[in-house]
Amino acid sequence: MYQHHLHQKIKRALEKNALHANPANVNFYTRFVANAAAIESLFSSIYQHHPAYDLYFNQLVETIVDAHQKRRPALQQLDEKKLEQEGWYLSNQIAGMSLYVDRFAGNLKGMSSKLEYLNKLGVNFLHLMPVFESPAGESDGGYAVSDFRKVDARFGNLGDLQKLKLAMEEKEMYLMLDIVLNHTSHHHEWARKAKEGDKAFQQYYYMYPTREIPDQFDASMPEIFPESSPGNFTYVKACNQWVMSVFHSYQWDLNYTNPAVFVAMLDTLFFYANLGVDILRIDAPAFIWKQLGTTCQNLPQAHTLLRLLKQCLQVAAPGVALLGEAIVAPREIMKYFGEGLYAGRECDFAYHATQMALQWDALATGDTRIMLAAQPLLLQKPKGASWITYTRCHDDIGLGYDDSMIAAAGFNSYEHRKFLKKYYAGSLPGSPATGALFSVNPKTQDARISGSLASLCGLEKASKKGSQAERAIAIQKILLMQAQSFFIGGIPVLFYGDEQGYTNDYSYLSDPGKSYDNRWMHRPVIDWQKWEADDNADGKSIFTATQRLIQIRKKLSAIADTGNLSWLTPHNIHVAGFIRENTHQQVYCLFNFSPQSAYLTWYAFKEKGKSITRLYDHWTEQTIAVGSDHDYFILQPYGFHILEVTG
Ligand code: GLC
Repeated sequence: MYQHHLHQKIKRALEKNALHANPANVNFYTRFVANAAAIESLFSSIYQHHPAYDLYFNQLVETIVDAHQKRRPALQQLDEKKLEQEGWYLSNQIAGMSLYVDRFAGNLKGMSSKLEYLNKLGVNFLHLMPVFESPAGESDGGYAVSDFRKVDARFGNLGDLQKLKLAMEEKEMYLMLDIVLNHTSHHHEWARKAKEGDKAFQQYYYMYPTREIPDQFDASMPEIFPESSPGNFTYVKACNQWVMSVFHSYQWDLNYTNPAVFVAMLDTLFFYANLGVDILRIDAPAFIWKQLGTTCQNLPQAHTLLRLLKQCLQVAAPGVALLGEAIVAPREIMKYFGEGLYAGRECDFAYHATQMALQWDALATGDTRIMLAAQPLLLQKPKGASWITYTRCHDDIGLGYDDSMIAAAGFNSYEHRKFLKKYYAGSLPGSPATGALFSVNPKTQDARISGSLASLCGLEKASKKGSQAERAIAIQKILLMQAQSFFIGGIPVLFYGDEQGYTNDYSYLSDPGKSYDNRWMHRPVIDWQKWEADDNADGKSIFTATQRLIQIRKKLSAIADTGNLSWLTPHNIHVAGFIRENTHQQVYCLFNFSPQSAYLTWYAFKEKGKSITRLYDHWTEQTIAVGSDHDYFILQPYGFHILEVTG
């Protein structure tokens, strides 16, 4: 939709910054004009009644121009290259890892020396957990940011981050950083000024002099950390106000009804984009809009703000993709890809949180029916959008999939979740898992699960027992979980330490800055001496197998996430299977979640009208002749197969 006044506004902003003289700016200008009407309509749908609307809209335009001016030519060239590839991030060539710089490599300088290790593993995409300034003891693992632009001294400085990024560029590695959009630390400059009584900065947050409005909010808002941080407001003595703090009391929620907050955070987003970030992880986007009488999660205005960020980013840093970290109900997660006119034009990525939790579900029960019941919804992901697939991350595992999915498999949802919590918290007699319940809500009995991949799969108990057989089963379960997440489509992101089979680390209990949060049990400190000493047979075999899984993924073009996945009819409730195919490749991926061998009729390979006679199993490296319909393909306990059709 051409809008003359917008066109003129952009032209004036370019002339003011003398950008019009350079022909290299044509691409930027074209993108700006193309997105201008969308940007204005999204911005005005939120802020049109604000008395300083014009001022802030002008600031928004200037922010975009400024971001373009600051984008180094190498990044601009990369933008163009990525745009030409269309959906560069859907590639099967990308495999990721999420890690804490300090716990993995000491600091940012140390990270450079670990790139070779990552390279060897096959990882070429790094999610560095937050590295910006965050007060020790009140940091929530870096998610309580006191300065969005200053690297925390414990990691190094901005120069070290830039050097690491350049070293990664040389190795053609991609980088993901977080932007913590929803809140700041109470030590952030804005919060400090608000505490001092500065009214303008008090409006950057939700601050109230009495409990009246906080009580109204609390009536409909769930609690995120009910054990360590009950309620959604914190009393601030210094200014005698109640401030909204949905997560920890030291994380103050930003108030996006104030356009000054939006423009400042857009500028921050561009700051990260211009560091050369390939994917920006928007932390907790579900929470960015608050409204009395609601849960204050997943509100339509939150989506409007995300769409607005995306349209602005596309203009000045179009090579940057957005990941919305929405760990919410399955139907709500899907909305972060955008809907209607904005389908596929909001966040490029979401976490495949439902699938991740359902894999843990199937591993505990040996039954894949709930996983299958969820797929019709999950397959509605718009073309061009993709998943971050994973089995573990730094956070807890929430069992947030729908009751209806559990019911579809014939289970009672309350009893089923109760079973899973006991199974993984290790309180169920005979359970091989060692984990813990996280954030138990005494009012609702809701809880999530903490624990490392290896411990939840049984390696901790098996090693303590000294049982070779149980260790082998635990390792097989670890690989089964990883394999499904590597081949289901999207970018697989390993959590550091899992490639070496790290079990839970209980040292957090003696650190007062961490002891209140048992997620630290699955955030290990990597012991490189031990790794080099070569006396960790389980770790080495997990590493080698993970490396092989990544190699296989990179070999198979059908694994690129082009919306080419279809699930097999469930011939056996223990086996989850899907086909990935493109014009020249068909790959059957099969996963047996049962502790017993599973029998799958050969008909499973023929039911889609295909006459298949031969398969090559990339995992076992064997060629397999497809048998007759009354015979069976046999999967070993917790076995899996990546079968390419070869005849
Ligand atoms: C996200 C992070 C989590 C953090 C929360 C608050 O969910 O992944 O670790 O506690 O946001 O910032």
